Amino acid sequence: MQYFFCLLLLMAVYSKSRSSPCEKGCDCHEELKLTTCTNALFTQLPNHIPPSTEHLDLSMNLLTFIPKSSFQMERKLRVLLIKDNNISAVADGAFTQLEFLQKLDLSCNRISSLSESFSLGLNALRELQLSHNHLHTLHSKSFMHLDGLQRLNLTGNAIHNIQVRSFGSMSTLRQLHLEGNHLVSLNNGVFSMLKSLEVLNLQGNQINKTQEGVFTPMTSLALLNLAHNQMSTIYFKTFLSIHTYSTHILLEGNPWDCNCDLQKVFHKLRSVQRLFLDDYYNLSCNAPPELANYRLMDVDTELCIAEVVIVLIITITVMITVLGAIVMAERKRKKKKRGKHWTEQGNLSDSDH
Ligand SMILES: *[C@@H]1O[C@H](CO)[C@@H](O)[C@H](O)[C@H]1NC(C)=O
Ligand SMILES: *[C@@H]1O[C@H](CO)[C@@H](O)[C@H](O)[C@H]1NC(C)=O
Ligand SMILES: *[C@@H]1O[C@H](CO)[C@@H](O)[C@H](O)[C@H]1NC(C)=O
Ligand SMILES: *[C@@H]1O[C@H](CO)[C@@H](O)[C@H](O)[C@H]1NC(C)=O
Repeated sequence: MQYFFCLLLLMAVYSKSRSSPCEKGCDCHEELKLTTCTNALFTQLPNHIPPSTEHLDLSMNLLTFIPKSSFQMERKLRVLLIKDNNISAVADGAFTQLEFLQKLDLSCNRISSLSESFSLGLNALRELQLSHNHLHTLHSKSFMHLDGLQRLNLTGNAIHNIQVRSFGSMSTLRQLHLEGNHLVSLNNGVFSMLKSLEVLNLQGNQINKTQEGVFTPMTSLALLNLAHNQMSTIYFKTFLSIHTYSTHILLEGNPWDCNCDLQKVFHKLRSVQRLFLDDYYNLSCNAPPELANYRLMDVDTELCIAEVVIVLIITITVMITVLGAIVMAERKRKKKKRGKHWTEQGNLSDSDH
């Protein structure tokens, strides 16, 4: 009897291990097509992942490198999470076989550059998470194959340079998160292919210059976050060129130089019906020194007073001059007339005698 049970148990274990080659340290839920290998101290990718897996979680391990064609046996993957590892490099074509992959999470690693063929094969990818890595430059071809991407998260890198065609193939991208990077200027063309973009988050960079046409072709933009940058002034045309039904723009936490020109730009922007400056009431001045820390809203009616006074003085001066001229002319005319009258009278009295 005991022998029989033993045999049964052995058979069960054998059949299980045959049907699910599950790496030690992983939990394989074949019926859910889910494999979880978190906190397993892996320094290399595991070899035994059930081929039926669609959702693979390798987060919180010690992986340092993703070699070429790493996931040949896991072609059905739809979700691949490799965040919180120690990955510093991803080989060219690392993900080539993953034609069904929809979400790839590589956040919280040490990736400092993405090669040209990094995205090869990822044509079905909808979401790419790359936040909190060490990226400093986006090359024009890194994202070349991601033509179905909808969400790209690059928060918390060190990106200071975006090559003009970096986002060139992303006509379906809806959210671009670039908050907490080192961007200084936004040049015409960097976002020019992102015609489906709805959210552009640039909060917490060092942007002090935006070229007038940088947001030009954006016809879907609903939220533009430029809060906590280094802008001291803005141009009306930069924002007027956003052609959408309605766009919310966030601008607080910038060191505004509160002068009459700025007041005029904001006055005009706030009168554009499709633009909403949601945090206008929170904008504060950094310069001139006597207005530092004042809210723009509290001083904006006074910023152009000096100008109004000058205009008034000029107007009054002109009016006085004109009036003076008229009075003089009138006086002259009268004088002339009186002179003529007088001579005429003189002549008359002459002829009387
Ligand atoms: C991560 O990798 C770096 C070298 O790239 C190494 O110095 C560091 O100790 C590693 N960290 C962990 C937690 O393994
Ligand atoms: C982007 O990444 C940050 C940091 O990991 C995270 O907090 C945020 O929710 C992500 N945003 C989106 C839209 O995925
Ligand atoms: C913007 O900031 C950079 C770096 O801090 C500086 O070199 C540059 O002169 C600034 N440009 C303007 C227009 O303020
Ligand atoms: C304005 O600032 C206050 C305090 O920092 C904050 O609670 C509020 O959400 C801000 N308003 C907007 C529209 O951002």
